[in-house]
Amino acid sequence: MRNKSPLAEADPWNRLEQNMVSTADGTLRHPLQADSGLDSYSSTLRGCTADGTPDLWSINTPTLPLGQQSWEYHHTCACLLAMGDAEEIYPLARDKAESTRLNNQHKLVLDASGGAIDPSIPLNTVSAVADVATGTGVWLYDARKQINETPGTGTQIYYHGFDISAAQFPENPDEIEFSVHDILKPFPAEHHNRYDLVNVKFLVAAFPESQYPAAVNNLLTILKPGGYLQWIEFDFSAVVDPNGPARNPRSDYVTEPWVKFLEHNNLSLSAPEALETVFKDVGLAKVKHRSALVRGRDHLKPQAREWLLTFFTDMMPLLLLKSGIAASQEQAESEATRRLGELAAYLAEGEIMDVRFGTVVGQKL
Ligand SMILES: C[S@@+](CC[C@H](N)C(=O)[O-])C[C@H]1O[C@@H](n2cnc3c(N)ncnc32)[C@H](O)[C@@H]1O
Repeated sequence: MRNKSPLAEADPWNRLEQNMVSTADGTLRHPLQADSGLDSYSSTLRGCTADGTPDLWSINTPTLPLGQQSWEYHHTCACLLAMGDAEEIYPLARDKAESTRLNNQHKLVLDASGGAIDPSIPLNTVSAVADVATGTGVWLYDARKQINETPGTGTQIYYHGFDISAAQFPENPDEIEFSVHDILKPFPAEHHNRYDLVNVKFLVAAFPESQYPAAVNNLLTILKPGGYLQWIEFDFSAVVDPNGPARNPRSDYVTEPWVKFLEHNNLSLSAPEALETVFKDVGLAKVKHRSALVRGRDHLKPQAREWLLTFFTDMMPLLLLKSGIAASQEQAESEATRRLGELAAYLAEGEIMDVRFGTVVGQKL
């Protein structure tokens, strides 16, 4: 009989079990272990519990015969299945509140950039679309709407979302497939040369610029020749530019922990520009980079204010700790209150930080 985890109520046991791989010797392993052929797997990783709470796990998975697994084994698999085997830099939660924040943020990006799919990408021959690091899958649903509303497009189009964690996948996927995959690992062969359009949005906080070539090369394997890669990313260059138009001591006080966190982890402050270079280096054709501004566009202001307030309210204590500005949780909480007060005052003055959304597009030859 299976032992119940303290988190059993929240555990998506069935989904996990469906994802397990039975090996020839009768053991049940998670796919990473089955692929690697390892008998056990040891790692320390920042993972998430099955309800999406970030957690630090020390892992040592035995491969036990079917029916003898303890909940720890399942839970370990849950974490591995959810997170891959990388020590995670990614600082955001994966709970319901974060899913709502991602969906609202997506709406702002769409309103700022004019649609889910860049107008330079032809849609009439599209038959399969993928979104990598999909989160809640929100981009896929809007991309499907945009494609369906475009005259001359097909009706039988396949949509697939990949993410390193299943925690935010929709409960009712409505004919869109989702699977767990780390963008830094090779994609399964069944996805090779399959997609006419592959999208990525907002991975800047997950890994350093030095890993962009590996990610893009993996994405190229799932694109059909002639297919398009679109990567939408935050551009913080105007936020750190000494001559940036929206800079003042108040905004710097709020953005400082975020910028320090990015710098400390070698994360990019100008990801779209870095991606544009990588797209060209790997031989993508027709590479272009379009930048969408929020600042200076009055109709976007209410949404942008809400977005900044929610993001910094959720993140500030963690950022203060991770950037080394605060030495303890208590200090982080009180410092966060001060800085969030400055943010409210900054926004009340009608100001908006100059964070931009860059869309980089290229075609596989
Ligand atoms: C900020 S969220 C963006 C989600 C979605 N693209 C959107 O725009 O709403 C980043 C997502 O990337 C996922 N992620 C982080 N590292 C990843 C990796 N190495 N491979 C695939 N997904 C990853 C996270 O689990 C999270 O869902």
